[in-house]
Amino acid sequence: MEVKPISNIKPSLLSKFDCGAEELNTYLKRFAKKNDKLGIGRTYILLDKARALGFYTVSMVQIEFKALPKPSQGKLPRYPIPAVRIGRLAIDLSAQGQRLARISHKHCNEFGQSVLSDGSENYEGKVSKPCRGVFLDPDGGTDVQIHPVLCEKCGLGEFLLMDALTRCLRVSEEIAVFAVIVDAKNQQAKDFYLKYGFIPLEDQELSLFLPIDTIKRT
Ligand SMILES: CC(C)(COP(=O)(O)OP(=O)(O)OC[C@H]1O[C@@H](n2cnc3c(N)ncnc32)[C@H](O)[C@@H]1OP(=O)(O)O)[C@@H](O)C(=O)NCCC(=O)NCCS
Repeated sequence: MEVKPISNIKPSLLSKFDCGAEELNTYLKRFAKKNDKLGIGRTYILLDKARALGFYTVSMVQIEFKALPKPSQGKLPRYPIPAVRIGRLAIDLSAQGQRLARISHKHCNEFGQSVLSDGSENYEGKVSKPCRGVFLDPDGGTDVQIHPVLCEKCGLGEFLLMDALTRCLRVSEEIAVFAVIVDAKNQQAKDFYLKYGFIPLEDQELSLFLPIDTIKRT
């Protein structure tokens, strides 16, 4: 299983994708590649062999200062605040709620933090604690690629969200990003994001944010 940019994917691999939300299916099949080329939305595909199991789209955005809840405004200036938007994230119906039995990582320390191997080590195994959040180098290295891991307790939706957050964190090392924004399609999707600490924005009922500092600390 791997996550690849849509620019490297044949359209035929996307044709059977169905997450149960027609609007998201249509976006993936008709507009995602076009928007990627235009540079207005980068889409990443979760692939299992020759099949797309999920996708998400990211782009840059600004949040109105007033949209942040008071406690998050802190010392911020009253200007629009830079953020990354995960505009869409979806898993194929056949894989929703599926728990991964296979883990693919080099080591898992006592806190359940792991560093993904270079792909050469794939083995069955058990992780004592659920892997959540962004996984930093347990040896304290600073120059490592950080990745989410595939863990038996992770669902694919969670895995893909962690992949997206890791990507946002990498971008924030070079370009200022205050937070990651998600647009939930409905209350159910909002509940999914609330599980991971996203905070509702004040001005839009279905939009939430997660400060990049929170992701860094996780
Ligand atoms: C939302 C979605 C991405 C979740 O993917 P998934 O693979 O089913 O989710 P996971 O199996 O990774 O679940 C991760 C956790 O979120 C929970 N969860 C999943 N869907 C949820 C929902 N709709 N509401 C609340 N919690 C949810 C799971 O119970 C699990 O928690 P647990 O580990 O404590 O049991 C998927 O259901 C989907 O594609 N839905 C249609 C598109 C959509 O609504 N996208 C959302 C943003 S636009």
